[in-house]
Amino acid sequence: MTATMDVDKKLLNTGVLIVATLVVAKLIYAFLIPRSGKRLPPVVKGWPIVGGLVRFLKGPIVMLRQEYPKLGSVFTVKLFNKNITFLIGPEVSAHFFKASESDLSQQEVYQFNVPTFGPGVVFDVDYSVRQEQFRFFTESLRVNKLKGYVDQMVAEAEDYFSKWGDSGEVDLKYELEHLIILTASRCLLGREVRDKLFDDVSALFHDLDNGMLPISVLFPYLPIPAHRRRDRARKKLSEIFARIISSRKSTGKPENDMLQCFIDSKYKDGRPTTESEVTGLLIAALFAGQHTSSITSTWTGAYLLCHKEYLSSVLEEQKNLMAKHGNKVDHDILAEMDVLYRSIKEALRLHPPLIMLLRSSHSDFNVKTREGKEFDIPKGHIVATSPAFANRLPHIFKDPDAYDPDRFAVGREEDKAAGAFSYISFGGGRHGCLGEPFAYLQIKAIWSHLLRNFELELVSPFPEIDWNAMVVGVKGKVMVRYKRRELTAN
Ligand code: HEM
Repeated sequence: MTATMDVDKKLLNTGVLIVATLVVAKLIYAFLIPRSGKRLPPVVKGWPIVGGLVRFLKGPIVMLRQEYPKLGSVFTVKLFNKNITFLIGPEVSAHFFKASESDLSQQEVYQFNVPTFGPGVVFDVDYSVRQEQFRFFTESLRVNKLKGYVDQMVAEAEDYFSKWGDSGEVDLKYELEHLIILTASRCLLGREVRDKLFDDVSALFHDLDNGMLPISVLFPYLPIPAHRRRDRARKKLSEIFARIISSRKSTGKPENDMLQCFIDSKYKDGRPTTESEVTGLLIAALFAGQHTSSITSTWTGAYLLCHKEYLSSVLEEQKNLMAKHGNKVDHDILAEMDVLYRSIKEALRLHPPLIMLLRSSHSDFNVKTREGKEFDIPKGHIVATSPAFANRLPHIFKDPDAYDPDRFAVGREEDKAAGAFSYISFGGGRHGCLGEPFAYLQIKAIWSHLLRNFELELVSPFPEIDWNAMVVGVKGKVMVRYKRRELTAN
C-alpha cells in the first residue's frame, strides 16, 4: 500500500515538475526571447483577396507612394496567392541586386517574355545556359564593337535629320522612335534588314510588341488575337533570320553588328549558336534596348528644351568639342560629352522606363532598414524593387522632383550617395543592364546632332507619363518647332 502511494507521489511530483518546466520555458520564450521568431514585413491593408489586386491595378507607383510613408522601406502586398515584398532604397535592396540566381531568380517572374523571345533563349533556358548567352551580349557590346556601332549611329542620325526641312514642326517622340528603330536595325539586326527588309521586319516587331500586354504577364499564352499575331510574327522573323544567317555563312563576309557577333558566338563546350537562338537573342536585345532608349531620348529633349540654363550648358559643351575636334563625332568624342551625359542620366532618373524589377525568392533572407529595423523575407515571396520610386527618395536625391543634371557632377555625385544601388535606372549588381554604354552612345549621337544643327522649341505642354505602357514612356505627342542652324565652335 505505502509502496503504491510512494509511486503515485513520485509520478505527481514528476508531472508537476514537467508542467512547471513547460510553463517556465513558455514564459522565458514569451518574455526573454520574444524576437527569435520571424519578423515579417508589414502587409499592405486591402480587401481580402481582391484588395491587393485592386490597389495594384491603380498603378504600382500610386500604391508605393501611399504605403512607403506608412509602412517604410520594406512591406508586402498580397496579390492572389502571392506575396510580393518591396525593398525600396539602397539600404534594403542590396541583396535584391547581388543575390545569386539560386537565392533570387529571374526565370519565373520574367517567364512572360518566352513566347516573344522564342524557345531556347534567355528565360526559356537554365541559368547556366542563360549566363553564357549573356556573355554573348557582353562580347557583342565591347568597346571595340561599340566604336563601329557609333559610326553607324552617327550616319543614321545625319541621314534621318537631313530629310527635315529648313524649319517646321514635328512630333519629337515619333521622330526619335523612328530613328532609333533604324539605328537598332543597322547596329543590331544588320545591314540586310536595314537596307532591304526594314518595313517587313518593323511590322513583325510591331506585332511582337503588341502581343506584350499587361495581361500577358500573368497569362502569356491566352488564346487572344494579339497573342496569335505575336506567335505568327515570331515564326516569320525566324524564317527571315534563318535566310539571312545562312546567306552570311555562305558568303563568309563578316559584318560589324550584333547579328554577326551572335552568329560567331560559341558555348563553352564549343557548340555554335543555332539560327533560332540567334533570332531569339536579337529579339531580346531589341526589347531591352529600343523603347527604353527612345523614351529616354524624348524625355532628355523635353527637359533640355524647358530648362534654358541646362540647354546652354550642353550647347557650350558642343561648341567646345567642335573647337577641339571640328565636326567629327565618334565614340571617343561622344565619351567627352559629360554635360550631355548628365542631362540624359537625370532625365532617366526621373523617368526610368522599367519602373519595377522582380525576382522570385528561393531562400529566406533578412534586411535591415535605415532606421535599424530588421525583417525576415521568407522563401516563396516575389521580391520587387522600383527604379521609378527609389530614384526620387529625398534622403538620396536633393529636391528629388527637380531636373538637376548637376547633381551627378564631381563633388555632389548623388547617384552614389548611399552606395552602388542609389541610382537604379539600369538596375545594378548581378543583372545590371549590359546595354547601358550602347544606350548612352546612341542618345548622345542623336542629341549632339540635333544640338549642332537645329534650334528647337517645345510647343506642346510638358509631356505626361504614360503609366499604362509595359515600358513606361511619354504620353501623347511632343511637338517641337525646329529651325536649321549651324552651331559655331568656340
Ligand atoms: C535607356 C536605355 C535602357 C534602360 C533604362 C535599361 C534598363 C535595364 C534594367 C533596369 C535592367 C535590369 C533588369 C533587372 O534587374 O531585372 C536591364 C537589363 C538588361 N539590359 Fe538594359 N536598359 C537599356 C538599354 C539596353 C540596351 C540598348 C540593351 C542592348 C542592346 C540592353 C540590354 C540589357 C540586357 C541584356 C539586360 C539583362 C542583363 C542581365 O540580366 O544580366 N539594355 N536593362
